[in-house]
Amino acid sequence: MISKKTQTQIDAWIGKYPQGKQSSAVMEALRVVQAENNNQLTPDLIQAVADYLDMPGIAAAEVATFYENYNHQSVGKYTIRFCHNISCMLNGADDLINHLETKLGVKTGEVTQDGLISVKKVECLGACVGAPMFQIGDQYYENLTTDKIDKIVDGLK
Ligand code: FES
Repeated sequence: MISKKTQTQIDAWIGKYPQGKQSSAVMEALRVVQAENNNQLTPDLIQAVADYLDMPGIAAAEVATFYENYNHQSVGKYTIRFCHNISCMLNGADDLINHLETKLGVKTGEVTQDGLISVKKVECLGACVGAPMFQIGDQYYENLTTDKIDKIVDGLK
């Protein structure tokens, strides 16, 4: 269920922790397994990670369901993780999220019909100085406006 390539990545993370503490690599293990599986974690995949790290399945599931960077339903090729926490909210995030939903024809949690983009509301991403902001992949986009959002979204292929 976990490919050799992904096992190698997980092993590298395990190597950063003391011997016998391999379960400390659970967040990264879940991340790489999710990346290998269309950015979605199923209960079977979570259990596979738990088995690989020799930890209880429920402990891996607790991590996978606590943090919002793990997806438990299908997502688009790109997920726009829009911050709606206090700084972003005070700087217009709600109106911008509405703009984005209207532009894409989806609500947060949904995927565009072409499977390209999904939108997720998330809590503070630690870039409050650039509020309002969102994240796509590893990239942060800050000081968003409707024009900026249109350009960014139109550039996603
Ligand atoms: S409140 Fe949005 S990045 Fe902190």
